[in-house]
Amino acid sequence: MCAIMHIKEIIDNFSFPVYLAPMEGITDHAFRMICKEKGADILISEFISSDALSREVEKSIVKMRFDERERPFGVQIFGHNEESLITAARIAAEGRPDFIDINWGCPVRKVVNKGAGSAILQDIPKMVALTSAVVKAVSLPVTVKTRLGWDHTSKPIVEVAERLQDIGIEAIAIHGRTRSQMYGGEADWNLIGAVKSNPRMRIPVIGNGDIDSAEKALDYHNRYGVDGIMIGRAAIGNPWIFQNIKQLIENKPLVSPTYMERVETALHHLRTSAEDKGERRAVLEMRTQYAGYFKGLRNFKSVRMKLMTASTIEECRQHMLAYSDEL
Ligand SMILES: Cc1cc2nc3c(=O)[nH]c(=O)nc-3n(C[C@H](O)[C@H](O)[C@H](O)COP(=O)(O)O)c2cc1C
Repeated sequence: MCAIMHIKEIIDNFSFPVYLAPMEGITDHAFRMICKEKGADILISEFISSDALSREVEKSIVKMRFDERERPFGVQIFGHNEESLITAARIAAEGRPDFIDINWGCPVRKVVNKGAGSAILQDIPKMVALTSAVVKAVSLPVTVKTRLGWDHTSKPIVEVAERLQDIGIEAIAIHGRTRSQMYGGEADWNLIGAVKSNPRMRIPVIGNGDIDSAEKALDYHNRYGVDGIMIGRAAIGNPWIFQNIKQLIENKPLVSPTYMERVETALHHLRTSAEDKGERRAVLEMRTQYAGYFKGLRNFKSVRMKLMTASTIEECRQHMLAYSDEL
């Protein structure tokens, strides 16, 4: 068995640590592997309900599975009930990921109405107590992903980060929006920077929100002094963003994928996903990624429409290749 590494040690292994943000319905094993191959450093599962995981619901157990090549890997749980969170964290830890991440940022009504995700930002003492219970329950490092606060009148993230550090979390990832912003407006990185520059903070601070290019990743990393960058939506159908960051750091020219590279990667994605979930579901789920995979291509719309109705991988392949003939 490998010795447990602290998050700081894990992060220090990378000169410019880049996380693939956890995204429910997107960052499954197939997509995470592709992002890893293209240069994402640290991966996290889709969020998993602690209520469901503590009852060992098969769908939740499947979500926490990962491949050794995905390391360093974290399992993310969400919930509002101490007992479920503790049980779920212990079950997740049995799968030997590198860390357990608690989601205190999800803005979705279904989650918030139960007091989970970003709802906890209205009750910081409870957030601290529940997080502390999870930290004590497992020997693995525990990290937190959260937002700035509940709404524009309450953005307590500087204090929250300090208090969570004090009860033993090993890193904090901050999405620079409040819950009430959902995904609207712009992420406020000044407050993320304020957390990082708080002289009391010792744990790594990961910045998240609106990073949509390699240039912006580097710029924001340097400008706000964060220990790592987390990328979500910009990676959907565009795993090359991770490769571009590496190219930029190494002062190499940024290389865009050719059409055939995009096709090969999309097909590889489809096939890996089909191995895990079956062809039908893989083909359906892949529809959210085509806009990214084939962004900016002239007259691609009609091909995309065909991809959106295709029902087998072979059909998808044929549509993609037909366009390459046109090119
Ligand atoms: C479709 C989708 C699903 C998401 N699911 C999760 C999730 O399971 N856990 C989580 O912590 N955040 C989730 N998020 C939030 C992202 O991790 C990230 O914080 C947010 O998208 C902002 O980063 P970005 O601007 O780079 O996309 C999700 C976001 C999207 C768009």
